[in-house]
Amino acid sequence: MTGRKVLVLGSGGREHALADALLASPSVSRVVVSPGNAGTLTPPAGLPSGKALLNKPGAPLEVARDERPDLVVVGPEAPLTEGLIDQLSAEGFLAFGPSRRAAALEGSKAFMKEVAARHGLRTARFERVTDVAEVERVVGSFEHPPVVKADGLCAGKGVVVAVSHDEAVAAARDMLAGRFGAAGATVVIEEQLVGQEASVHAICDGERAFVLPAAQDHKRIFDDDRGPNTGGMGTYAPAPLITPMLAERVRREIIDRAVAGMAADGNPFRGTLFAGLMITPEGEPCLLEFNVRFGDPETQVLMNVLDGDVAELLASAARGALSADAVTVAPRHAVCVVLAAPGYPGTPEVGSPISGLERAAQIDGVRVYHAGTRIEAGATVTSGGRVLGVTARGSTLAEAHERAYRAADAIEFPGKQLRRDIARRALSP
Ligand code: AMP
Ligand code: GLY
Repeated sequence: MTGRKVLVLGSGGREHALADALLASPSVSRVVVSPGNAGTLTPPAGLPSGKALLNKPGAPLEVARDERPDLVVVGPEAPLTEGLIDQLSAEGFLAFGPSRRAAALEGSKAFMKEVAARHGLRTARFERVTDVAEVERVVGSFEHPPVVKADGLCAGKGVVVAVSHDEAVAAARDMLAGRFGAAGATVVIEEQLVGQEASVHAICDGERAFVLPAAQDHKRIFDDDRGPNTGGMGTYAPAPLITPMLAERVRREIIDRAVAGMAADGNPFRGTLFAGLMITPEGEPCLLEFNVRFGDPETQVLMNVLDGDVAELLASAARGALSADAVTVAPRHAVCVVLAAPGYPGTPEVGSPISGLERAAQIDGVRVYHAGTRIEAGATVTSGGRVLGVTARGSTLAEAHERAYRAADAIEFPGKQLRRDIARRALSP
């Protein structure tokens, strides 16, 4: 019997990690990544025979019509908020991800805050502002400098964690004046929370949720959380900050309430619900944001702590009949160290040859996920800000960490940037 054909839409490290996990799923024989990158051309070593991996460029709907996949998995948020799942479903495809209306949990921060308030999810106190004349009064109503967020998608650039009330006022005015176009026509001003951040992903079928182990990302470009924000410079999972007791509270008080609330509101959530959490010094889990897709580079570690049939998990969720026992959480740890191009998170310098990929891949437990790479005259060269997600699994966090850095050091390209402190917090608390 031939297995499922899965189409993965996207081109980053997240999509490479998903393609790998889907290809390794017993129910799958073929994975097509569109558009993919230089990494999604090569299946991982040691795969059973009869499995194929390929890249295909083109508009998502056209690629789906050509390939007739049994399952479509959409990586990034923009097409989800624009309704790609609705379009795919209307054409009869089984597509994993939220509808346009459910994707507003990420696409509109005001919508997310309103859902949280309506259904009792703990989150920072907020006010929604659309009139520049209101900014000063609203900012002044917060005792400490608040956080200012553009309502819509801004590729991670629409959040200002202000250090003074004046900075918050200026940021809100800037957004309302059109700095982010329509995405900033509404601004959310909210209380600044302190604590430690973690993210929890849940695979949802509209009614039920399967919660994955917690992960921690490292958002700033430099060690010790210094310098500008990035898309994420490295992750590890499971994150010991989320104790079993805390994980149970996050499931009950945040994930389950969101899933039940969205269903009650007539917008059932199917897909990956990714909760960005702040664990307060009192140990309370507070919701910072929802994303409606897998995190990047969270996926790179999460896919390394799951065993079983990820394709069946996602397909069952997309069908509305979650089969959580399709996978098991393995007693493993994973660490992902991102290698970034010089200039990132500003304009990256691209087109440099990358060496050492094979040497890195030979290290036990290591898988190098590609993000900003392309093939040029037969060689792999850099083509984006985040270039590679060097990921290792291990039976302990220390083992995964040692392998990931050994592999990261084996890979070279001019001006390579990486953080040296990924997972350090969990290794030496
Ligand atoms: P977001 O783009 O919504 O993920 O926010 C980016 C980052 O801003 C988060 O990862 C937090 O570090 C920070 N942040 C967002 N909201 C708050 C808040 N209410 N208090 C403190 N930090 C926040
Ligand atoms: N790594 C954070 C994100 O995917 O939003």
